[in-house]
Amino acid sequence: MLSKKIQAALNDQINNEFYAAYLYLSMSGYFRETNLAGFAHWMQMQRQEEIAHAMKIFDFVYDRDGLVELQALKKPPARFESPLDVMEQALGHEREVTAKINDLYELAVKEKDYPTQALLQWFITEQVEEEASALQIVEQLKMIGDSRAALLMLDRELGARTMGE
Ligand SMILES: [Fe+2]
Ligand SMILES: [Fe+2]
Repeated sequence: MLSKKIQAALNDQINNEFYAAYLYLSMSGYFRETNLAGFAHWMQMQRQEEIAHAMKIFDFVYDRDGLVELQALKKPPARFESPLDVMEQALGHEREVTAKINDLYELAVKEKDYPTQALLQWFITEQVEEEASALQIVEQLKMIGDSRAALLMLDRELGARTMGE
């Protein structure tokens, strides 16, 4: 059985994960518009991952005899300045999510909710990867600077990403 506090916090996190999916979809649109199909593909993979994160929590809540109440999604940004701007915002977003997961974990410890702690341990590990992959692309874009040829090479590399990477 979930406590009301944990249930409410998990409901919020479901919304955060769906918002992340929505944000990555918007970013994917920017890359479609700017003809960077590989980046667009990478963002679509992110979107799918975020929906899987939301569903992991959704299923967990019902497995614990709790209730999900889906909330409205806020509007993600629709305009971006450059690939670097997009990736910096993606990294910033992942860092915010990490902070939220950490807060949730702290609450689960306080409430002595061990199954929720186990679920969140998976998310804590996942966030390390999420931040690392966004940071790597940010750093590579900084190296690339104004080189169109190098940008196209990175685009090709990102286009080869498969699920689970
Ligand atoms: Fe996520
Ligand atoms: Fe993420």
